[in-house]
Amino acid sequence: MRAVIFDLDGVITDTAEYHFLAWKHIAEQIDILFDRDMNERLKGISREASLERILIFGGAEKKYTNAEKQELMHQKNQYYQTLISKLTPEDLLPGIGRLLCQLKNENIKIGLASSSRNAPEILRHLAIIDDFDAIVDPAALAKGKPDPEIFLTAAALLDVSPADCAAIEDAEAGISAIKSAGMFAVGVGQEQSMLGADLVVRQTSDLTLELLHGEWEQHRIKSI
Ligand code: BG6
Ligand code: MG
Repeated sequence: MRAVIFDLDGVITDTAEYHFLAWKHIAEQIDILFDRDMNERLKGISREASLERILIFGGAEKKYTNAEKQELMHQKNQYYQTLISKLTPEDLLPGIGRLLCQLKNENIKIGLASSSRNAPEILRHLAIIDDFDAIVDPAALAKGKPDPEIFLTAAALLDVSPADCAAIEDAEAGISAIKSAGMFAVGVGQEQSMLGADLVVRQTSDLTLELLHGEWEQHRIKSI
């Protein structure tokens, strides 16, 4: 294992809740009922794809022009940015600071593969941006998760072969992307929504370098 690539929302910090609040704010304005179940299905998905799904949920996919959709996304992002402006290093999910330290001590490279265009801003608020050797710019990609492009780009930026990378995700689309990239997939959350993951932990506090190393080794032996 030469590199670990992180998803951001739901793995490093709990911004999934902020995305939920911001989309709910927009959905209310356009009379669409939006709940946490629907929000689950937006995890890992780009801003554009999220709006499309919300409009489909509400039977309103033909109702808005492109310019109107741009405006809705702009408003969602402004609301979201107000929420993330309050983030501090205290908002790192449990165990993540320790894992970043352990990786640095072992000279294992650290990458970020988040679909969020707000990722650098969030990492600055959490005071961990300097820990990352590579941060993928999702705006420069042709395809979003579950396509593997974002993880393959992270590996290329880190100059590590995908087979030597582990990646950590909290969303189904993300786990599929990691597996299609040929990497060791670590899921955080409920086992049933992490189909295909090589290792599943219930919470981020379970993520230690020892566990990753141990499971990585067993997986390697099994695949010989
Ligand atoms: C992902 C989130 O990390 O980023 C999605 O899981 C979100 O919910 C996506 O839609 C895009 O984020 P942003 O910040 O660019 O709107
Ligand atoms: Mg996520």
